[in-house]
Amino acid sequence: MVDLHCHLLPGIDDGPESLEGSLALARAQVAAGVNVVAATPHVDLEYGNRSADIQAGIEQFNLALVEHGIELKVVNGAEITLTLANELEKDELAALRLGEGPWLLLEAPLSAGAFGFENLVRQAQTRGHKVLLAHPERCPEIQRDPDLATGLVRNGVLMQITAGSLSGSFGTTVQECAFELVARGLVHNVASDAHDARRRPPGLLASLEEVGMSEYASYWCESVPAAIISGGEIPNPPTSFPAARSKSWRRYFGRR
Ligand SMILES: [Fe+2]
Repeated sequence: MVDLHCHLLPGIDDGPESLEGSLALARAQVAAGVNVVAATPHVDLEYGNRSADIQAGIEQFNLALVEHGIELKVVNGAEITLTLANELEKDELAALRLGEGPWLLLEAPLSAGAFGFENLVRQAQTRGHKVLLAHPERCPEIQRDPDLATGLVRNGVLMQITAGSLSGSFGTTVQECAFELVARGLVHNVASDAHDARRRPPGLLASLEEVGMSEYASYWCESVPAAIISGGEIPNPPTSFPAARSKSWRRYFGRR
């Protein structure tokens, strides 16, 4: 599987602080069935990471993986905060794309009141990038109005939800929104957004199994992310997705 959202590099953001921590996370990814990870450090006002730092970090970390016999390949990426995306220079923004393709991972706003954020997404698209939107299910504006997500997808945006959102790690509001996006056929990719091997560990398949959606793993976690990092054609979706779950289903099966 291919994980397109992982805070894997040591000491660069709120992922692992040390190389040992990053290697532990890499081992956990491999144990969970992942063989390719896009390293996606935060590119925002807090951490100030730039493409040169990220690329150097990836190069060093891939060498460390070989040295430690961990069969994982790390490719380029970044989780870019929306407000910053359009302020970055053209070449800098392009250097933050996922793998070798034309896709940027832009972070859906996590605070309420981010009205009109879809205009910022559109602006990135008009600058020549394709947009994969990270965790729309955690965005209060999309929770309030899922039609916003429908509109974004109609305009060519792909949606990446966090595996833990489906299994309830972020609460029932996020879980309900994740199910709604799945039911509407608006989910193209499921990623871990892992930050370390314990506190926010990887576990794509485990989360999908927990909610009875493992049959979609090959689309969400293999074929679509592989196409994104190679710049290939995005595969057609499965013919149907599970209907939105009722609250009673979640009370019975879901975490509270
Ligand atoms: Fe993240």
